[in-house]
Amino acid sequence: MITSTDQTVLVTGGAGFIGSHTTLALLQAGQAVVVLDNLSNSSAQSLERVARIAGRAPVFVQGDVRDRALVQRLLREHRVGAVLHFAGLKAVGESASMPLTYYDNNVAGSLALCQAMAAAGVWRLVFSSSATVYGDPATVPIREDMPTGPTNPYGRTKWMVEHLLGDLAAADPRWQIGVLRYFNPVGAHESGLIGEDPRGTPNNLLPYVAQVAVGRRAALSVFGNDYPTPDGTGVRDYIHVMDLAEGHLKALQALADRSGLHTWNLGTGQGYSVLEIVRAFQQASGRPVPYQVAPRRAGDAAASYADPSKAARELGWQARRGLTEMMEDTWRWQSLNPAGFGGG
Ligand code: NAD
Ligand code: WQD
Repeated sequence: MITSTDQTVLVTGGAGFIGSHTTLALLQAGQAVVVLDNLSNSSAQSLERVARIAGRAPVFVQGDVRDRALVQRLLREHRVGAVLHFAGLKAVGESASMPLTYYDNNVAGSLALCQAMAAAGVWRLVFSSSATVYGDPATVPIREDMPTGPTNPYGRTKWMVEHLLGDLAAADPRWQIGVLRYFNPVGAHESGLIGEDPRGTPNNLLPYVAQVAVGRRAALSVFGNDYPTPDGTGVRDYIHVMDLAEGHLKALQALADRSGLHTWNLGTGQGYSVLEIVRAFQQASGRPVPYQVAPRRAGDAAASYADPSKAARELGWQARRGLTEMMEDTWRWQSLNPAGFGGG
């Protein structure tokens, strides 16, 4: 049990990729869960699948985190003891063309949530931040105390919310806030029943590779092969979504006896290049992944991977699943559900 026995965890954005896997982990740990999601980037099917795996369902409320009155009512009616805040928009490119939409969903959404929490007397919050707040890191691996400086509007929304939360924690010692900076979440639950289901053309590497392998797209574009990395392609810290989910449970537990704001990187500490990912995925799927080298993508760093030792020390958490498992689980989800949740 994560909260005291009669309390619930509110999961905003719980129908999405990371939120659905974390909701499953919470249910399997015996925790009561309420999911609030406006389904702007997800399907309620994900939660039906979660219920199938867990043998019981979370309460699902379709609504918006910016709706303060609704959130306040949910917090009170369900005796919420802690909130996991995943709800937000996450596409870097789109954030540059729709900054108002991003600041509204991500910054105003987080503000409304915190106002509702303070009004309802709920003080324990875990926020989904991102390694994107580090911008183009001067050195790797990246520690939490290294400089931040996001290079796109999406990243700045995360960075602004981190500052908002820091100011809340400084003003009132009742707040117990965990900021989790995820590196590159990939993979799927081992059942193959839930996974990442991006709308339109995927922005991220793994969903794109998986859609090429399953025959939905012709070839991958590798964005640049002249970076100062061993094979010239970008290096990232890919982390299995179930490891990430378990990190949230550990963070909730750790916050129970901690006041203030605490920031933890969630990554493996190990970087892999784009070409290493392509090879590993071909091996896991037994399918070819044709690719062509394309120009660098604007704003991409050469290498980004975590120093995850603070989370190991303070949360007793570390990623357990390796690259092969990440690729095999992604492939199971993709091949069983070639059209994502839209396939029924
Ligand atoms: P996702 O889009 O699959 O999930 C986000 C969920 O939030 C969706 O179900 C969406 O419908 C919902 N949502 C969006 N705006 C909302 C609003 N205003 N009110 C209610 N619900 C709303 O994305 P994800 O990959 O699961 O990411 C979850 C969180 O983690 C996001 O905050 C994202 O920025 C952050 N994050 C993601 C990654 C990544 O690569 N996936 C990396 C770092 C951080
Ligand atoms: C990984 C590598 C690309 C697609 C982004 C966000 C970050 C976080 C995670 C939310 C890079 C290369 C990619 C393709 C490619 N999200 N690539 N061809 O850029 O590390 O991080 O997602 O918080 O904020 O910026 O992840 O998966 O887009 O790219 O060659 O079609 O794959 O250049 O080296 P990234 P990614």
